[in-house]
This record gives sequence, structure tokens and C-alpha cells, in this order.
Amino acid sequence: MAAHIHILGISGSLRAGSLNTALLRNAQAMLPQDTSLEIADLSGIPLFNQDHEHDPPAAVHEFKAKISGADALLFAVPEYNYSIPGVLKNAIDWASRPVATQPFNNKPAAIAGAGGRFGTVRAQLHFRQIATYLNMQLLQKPELMIPLAHQKFDANGVLTDQEARDQLRTLVDALVAWARRWR
Ligand SMILES: Cc1cc2nc3c(=O)[nH]c(=O)nc-3n(C[C@H](O)[C@H](O)[C@H](O)COP(=O)(O)O)c2cc1C
Repeated sequence: MAAHIHILGISGSLRAGSLNTALLRNAQAMLPQDTSLEIADLSGIPLFNQDHEHDPPAAVHEFKAKISGADALLFAVPEYNYSIPGVLKNAIDWASRPVATQPFNNKPAAIAGAGGRFGTVRAQLHFRQIATYLNMQLLQKPELMIPLAHQKFDANGVLTDQEARDQLRTLVDALVAWARRWR
């Protein structure tokens, strides 16, 4: 029997109707066997203050523990002003300190994004720069950018576009295989 793979999903949007959080929920519904996906809650994470990097607030402590305990990370990243949202950057900044023990190091990860005309391509490029510094083991391919995402989910957040669904399933399968290689 294959070892269980636990994925932590991290959405860059706190919006109740977030399409990126919805993307993670759709991924939860198409997991391969022996795989689980939990969605992190970033809403309680305060603004980063380096004075507290050694004694972070409880929400940060919990977030870091979830990253450490996960076999892989799946980021769903909206594009804000051609980059990643501050909410996500702030959470990553907290988790990245102190550097010597930061939990992203060597963590298998993948990125996806639901956005406008270009499907978050610019935000994803910025994210890849951050992931490089943090030494995440970020899948290069497949890429998953969902352009005109507001047309591709129904009112319940179900991803209805078949091409996007197939791409999401392929990405999740690739991430699980990647995580197994890193175990
Ligand atoms: C502050 C802000 C900046 C945005 N900047 C961009 C952008 O640069 N490019 C883009 O395609 N969409 C941009 N958008 C649109 C969002 O990507 C879009 O609303 C997306 O659905 C947000 O993700 P969510 O549904 O997960 O909340 C922006 C939205 C906000 C609120």
C-alpha cells in the first residue's frame, strides 16, 4: 500500500466567495487514493512584526506546524496588481522565520491560480521567485492558470469548465507523485 500523502492547501484570498479557495475545494473532491487535502486558514494571521519572529502569535505557530506536518503544499494564488496578494506574502514572511528552521525548506509544492484575462501568470512568476529563495521544491510543470475564472465556476464554487478540471486533476496527481519522491 502506498504511503498516505497529506497536502496543505493555501489560498491567497480571504474572500468568502474566493475562486482560488474554491479551486482548492475542487481539488479536495478529486484526490487520488491515500491522499488528503486540508485548507489552511490565514484569516487570523496578523501583520508580520520581526520583533516576534521567535515567539510568533498562535495563528502563525499553527500555520507553521501545518506546513511542517504536510507532505506537500498546494498554493492557489490570485493576482493582485501583477503580484501575489499581501495576505499570502505576509503569511509566508511569518512562516519563513527564523530562517534556520523555516518549514518551506525542501517542501514539495505546486502552484495554481484562478484569475482574469491572463489567469494569474504574473502573480505565479512572482511566487516562483519567493519559492526559490525559500528552497521549496516547486513543480515546474504542469502549470495551472485559469483565465476568466469567474466564467468557469458555478454559484456553488464548482469548477464547471472541463478543460480546467482536467488540468487541476493532472496537477494534483503530479503533486502527489512529486511528494512521494521526496518522502
Ligand atoms: C487589489 C486587487 C488587485 C487586482 N489585481 C489584478 C491584476 O493585477 N491582474 C488580474 O488579472 N486581476 C486582478 N485582480 C482581480 C482578481 O485577480 C480577481 O478578483 C480574483 O478573482 C481574485 O481571487 P479570488 O476570487 O480568489 O478572491 C485584482 C483584484 C484586487 C482585489
